Amino acid sequence: MARILITSAIPYINGIKHLGNLVGSQLPADAYARFMRARGHEVMFICATDEHGTPAELAAAKAGKPVAEFCADMWVVQKGLSDGFRLSFDHFGRSSSDRNHKLTQYFAGKLAENDLIEEVSEKQVYSNADGRFLPDRYIEGTCPNCGYEHARGDQCENCTKQLDPTDLINPRSAVSGSTDLEVRKTRHLYLRQSKLKDRLDQWIDSKKDWPILTTSIAKKWLHDGDGLRDRGITRDLDWGVPVMKGDKPWPGMEGKVFYVWFDAPIEYIAATAEWADANGLDDAAWQRWWRTDKGADDVRYVQFMGKDNVPFHTLSFPATIMGSGAPWKLVDYIKSFNYLNYDGGQFSTSQGRGVFMDQALEILPADYWRWWLLSHVPENSDSEFTWENFQASVNKDLADVLGNFVSRVTKFCRSKFGEAVPEGGAYGKAEATVTAEIATRLEAYEGHMEAIELRKATSELRAIWVAGNEYLQAAAPWALFKTDPDAAAAIVRFALNLIRLYGVLSSPFIPDASTAILAAMQTKDDSWPTDLDAALNTLPAGHAFSVPDVLFAKITDEAREDMQARFAGQG
Ligand code: MF3
Ligand code: ZN
Repeated sequence: MARILITSAIPYINGIKHLGNLVGSQLPADAYARFMRARGHEVMFICATDEHGTPAELAAAKAGKPVAEFCADMWVVQKGLSDGFRLSFDHFGRSSSDRNHKLTQYFAGKLAENDLIEEVSEKQVYSNADGRFLPDRYIEGTCPNCGYEHARGDQCENCTKQLDPTDLINPRSAVSGSTDLEVRKTRHLYLRQSKLKDRLDQWIDSKKDWPILTTSIAKKWLHDGDGLRDRGITRDLDWGVPVMKGDKPWPGMEGKVFYVWFDAPIEYIAATAEWADANGLDDAAWQRWWRTDKGADDVRYVQFMGKDNVPFHTLSFPATIMGSGAPWKLVDYIKSFNYLNYDGGQFSTSQGRGVFMDQALEILPADYWRWWLLSHVPENSDSEFTWENFQASVNKDLADVLGNFVSRVTKFCRSKFGEAVPEGGAYGKAEATVTAEIATRLEAYEGHMEAIELRKATSELRAIWVAGNEYLQAAAPWALFKTDPDAAAAIVRFALNLIRLYGVLSSPFIPDASTAILAAMQTKDDSWPTDLDAALNTLPAGHAFSVPDVLFAKITDEAREDMQARFAGQG
């Protein structure tokens, strides 16, 4: 039995996430966590909300709420949606927690002790009307290059030229529209990550088994880009983790907070501490996952994230951990994802284009989405959601293959033998053949799950369902029943055991259907099969079962067209 620590990139607090966000980290992490638990490993699966930064402040202002209240409310909403999608986090924390404040300040203190922090004086735009410094992208004005009137202080959207806020003609605050702006001097802390370049380089080189997507992005930032430039880790904002050196004030940094990307990954650790607190456990309980001097040396730590998050997880966060000089756990494996597009374009939060987590659950149960998303997860390239494809997958894989098998077998048995596993006859050659096929596929399925190749895993799982269907079709107990009821009984007995097996094997992807199947089979035995012959004899003759409600309803063409129109967006 191994110990596996799994984290998913933590979603920003400032709005409900769309399905592209969901499939880019949390959902695949959940399938992996469920699989590892089912195999009997000890799993700690952590996520949280990412609550700091200007976008959170602005979203709160737009909602007319104090930012702390806005975040608390949105956490409840996001937690409800993750429960709705059956994301099985051991803890869903908050980056604004007291634990994260303390740990972030602790790490900054350690980095300072190790001479990895530098104080830099810089100039920044201050808005008198808003009473705050403005980040570059919250200053708007006319582009000096093309004359576009809504250029942002970091870049002109129209001609793509990179800008400095002071380049803009007629600059104004994007928050209030005020033109009462001035340039002020301010001091900030910089993390001298360039000093850690060689260590990071060697560490990434040692990760021979990482996906190419992960290492190629890391290497690019390390070598061609300026990813390892020393990086400002403080901001002039009100909302965030106050800048402190451990538990001591930091002279000159009063009123400033840490940059959101500095404190957010530390929340992985803090959320595990929050988990311990919530369960009345002591510090040793979470430190055994994170401190290599306290038991975490035999933990395998796996992170899940979208490709845009890779630089922060391969360079910045490891720089914090390494630079602390203390025995904190570094990540062992980083699984990263490409993007999911929506029906010929991109998902867009601002244009309301695509399906958002709350809307998805209003239309159809979680399993439908989970199955489509995970069987089309953008692992090797970007992938695209289309309603036609979604309809086809649900109708074929879930309704025709899995759902139909369960319903046909249980209903046939009920009508001919009653609601208990029938006795008589014996398994023969056909059963041995399909068992052998499933054994081979099961091994492949397990291998793909271990390697976190989820698309390949779903296609093996689907093939395991198909094998049962084909077996049943060829064995045709409904025909045999008239001449040889004992032989028909053996087929049905075998098929009912296949149903239980499908309930167990499908649990990482469609957990609700899996629960419904095991409930209908009236068994609590959901143990992962080690000996397939034994697994297919789990339900003995005489064992009672019930016919479950329809597991998956088909999506009609009309329903599909309605949804397509509803989610086309305004863009
Ligand atoms: N909130 C970020 C995003 O959605 C992810 C933060 S991941 C963490 O892109 F490492 F910072 F926690
Ligand atoms: Zn321009």
